[in-house]
Amino acid sequence: MNATTVPPTLLVTGGAGFIGSNFVHLLAEQRPDARVVNLDALTYAGNLENLRELEGRANHVFVHGDICKSADVARALAACGKGPLQVVHFAAESHVDRSIQSGLPFVETNVVGTQVLLDACRARGVERFVHVSTDEVYGSLGTSGMFTEDTPLAPNSPYSASKAASDFLVRAAVHTHGFPACITRCSNNYGPYQFPEKLIPLMIANAGENKELPVYGDGMNVRDWLYVRDHCEAIQAVLERGRPGEVYNIGGHNEYPNLEIVRLILKLLGKPESLIRFVKDRPGHDRRYAIDASKMERELGWRPRYDFVTALPLTIRWYQSHPEWLQRVRSGAYRDYYAAQYGAR
Ligand SMILES: NC(=O)c1ccc[n+]([C@@H]2O[C@H](COP(=O)([O-])OP(=O)(O)OC[C@H]3O[C@@H](n4cnc5c(N)ncnc54)[C@H](O)[C@@H]3O)[C@@H](O)[C@H]2O)c1
Repeated sequence: MNATTVPPTLLVTGGAGFIGSNFVHLLAEQRPDARVVNLDALTYAGNLENLRELEGRANHVFVHGDICKSADVARALAACGKGPLQVVHFAAESHVDRSIQSGLPFVETNVVGTQVLLDACRARGVERFVHVSTDEVYGSLGTSGMFTEDTPLAPNSPYSASKAASDFLVRAAVHTHGFPACITRCSNNYGPYQFPEKLIPLMIANAGENKELPVYGDGMNVRDWLYVRDHCEAIQAVLERGRPGEVYNIGGHNEYPNLEIVRLILKLLGKPESLIRFVKDRPGHDRRYAIDASKMERELGWRPRYDFVTALPLTIRWYQSHPEWLQRVRSGAYRDYYAAQYGAR
């Protein structure tokens, strides 16, 4: 970088959520001088305690706002200043079970919010926009085969349908306006700071309290699990070297049925399998996802560094060594943290 080059500011949406906060931590580690503006509405899934260690850093700015509201997005863009800007868009409603209860918040944030953000970023001008999507947009697989970037989209839940719609809006912005966006489609993540409504932290938390571990259906739904650090490094690679307009699949070569994961967690925690309780299956539950991530490896030199053997024990240790984080999320006390730091909302 020569003396006149200004390093880009990063606008991260949803940076107080699970993957977003892990990504902000990665930026603090790998790009300590970068200015990071985090726009987050702090829904139930947003937790500023995930970013506690970064408090007080002058180059990390939190903007409390909603991507569906142009004025909030404008405020966040103003906080980014006038220099070069890169955007990583995580903000979303992300839990399939909640989308089955009520799809509307998913359409609002994932579809409308993405369009509001795209319009504002296009008017402002950005170097790169990474839209963080999911393998769930491809639908469900049988016992063989894998999703490639060319697999037709066939979403089955209101969550995945709203994410697929947002992918199409990003595609349209690229095609119509030459907007410099890439789309990533990743498999299921696990790791620190994941809200304990999702499979792995829920099982760790329940087993820790000797509570029942609810397993949907026959427990044989297969997902390809990726450690969140690997996902964040993949997003970094796309941000730095991805080709605008391209879709990149991200996966862990780590396929497991839910039941096997639950058994592994119980084994690592020294708890009995009698804690497992089979419950009525999720309506429309996709049977299997598997990702072909060879394009990431071929074009960007990225491949996962972790698997369950290495990262499931790491994840369990993280939850065991952060009992207060878990307890405050489970009790809802984490929601008061914003007021304590920033005053009333
Ligand atoms: N968790 C996974 O396994 C996984 C896998 C692949 C892709 N993804 C995608 O990655 C992204 C992040 O997932 P996650 O698991 O970290 O989600 P999360 O639910 O943990 O976090 C979402 C964050 O977005 C914020 N948010 C929600 N609505 C908002 C709005 N209208 N305006 C501003 N902020 C808002 C929330 O407050 C929260 O901080 C999502 O787009 C999701 O679709 C997740």
